[in-house]
Amino acid sequence: MNLTANIAGLNFNHILLNAAGVMCQTSEELDRVLASEYTGSVVTKSSTPSLRPGNVSPRYYELSNGLGTINSMGLPNEGFDYYMDYVTKQQTDKPIFFSVAGLSKQDNLDMLHQLEQSDFDGLIELNLSCPNVPGKPQTAYDFETTHEILTEVFSFFTKPLGVKLPPYFDIVHFDQIAKILNQFPLAFVNAINSIGNGLVIDEATDTVVIKPKGGFGGVGGPLVKATALANVRALRQRLNPNIKMIGTGGVTTGRDVYEHILCGADLVEVGSQLAIEGVGVFERLENELITILTEKGYSSLDEVRGQLKIIE
Ligand code: DOR
Repeated sequence: MNLTANIAGLNFNHILLNAAGVMCQTSEELDRVLASEYTGSVVTKSSTPSLRPGNVSPRYYELSNGLGTINSMGLPNEGFDYYMDYVTKQQTDKPIFFSVAGLSKQDNLDMLHQLEQSDFDGLIELNLSCPNVPGKPQTAYDFETTHEILTEVFSFFTKPLGVKLPPYFDIVHFDQIAKILNQFPLAFVNAINSIGNGLVIDEATDTVVIKPKGGFGGVGGPLVKATALANVRALRQRLNPNIKMIGTGGVTTGRDVYEHILCGADLVEVGSQLAIEGVGVFERLENELITILTEKGYSSLDEVRGQLKIIE
């Protein structure tokens, strides 16, 4: 079974990896994702220029009925230099995604300048969609600012760069964001980040389940699958073919991976389910995917990618 993908000339021998934020904050966690035979890559925790402790706890919660997760981590990370050091020392032949999430445009530009000047030869993911820093909006909901940032970035940046987007919920917004993204030589677009600012209430105590922001946080897991698939599909239909798609959101089974690919995903990321199940999730998901592909008589993902059928 051929489960390979290619982004910006870099080859991935498997299509699964972690979603930024899950199992990727420390070098030990990053090593665990990389060491799995069933991952094609790893993405680092979105970094800020300096170490950040993130929001107060409790800041992560798993819904008991398996519906998903809510988090307001607030970008806890070891700081840019830590991840630069990690990727520089890595011996792996898997291409690595280096995620950055500056709290200002200048932070992002500064980190990208350093990446541009470094020996890092992987891919860079610019996270424009973190919902959890109090007082900071999700940048990619502001189309003008997104255009402005990308214009400045591509005035000097030459390495393979993609953006992590928040979910969109209106056809007009799919049209508008795609029109902006198509103006730039992006290597990939990753849809979606968590659905921002959801609210989960504990039944026994009538209390919110996480402390930051009065209980508001990013929702992930099965609850967001339909929205994730819609975003992958809608963007794949609108983006230039040379911009690759990463599908993230609601992946708990091989069938979910398969559906992301049907919608056009080149790679598929696992967030909530990786947090719940641990690194063994990649083997299970890949095996379940292979079973589906075999049953349907496919020998390569290229036969499936983007082949979602609609009712005529
Ligand atoms: O759901 C999320 N949580 N998305 C992000 O981009 C960042 C993360 C966090 O650290 O809060």
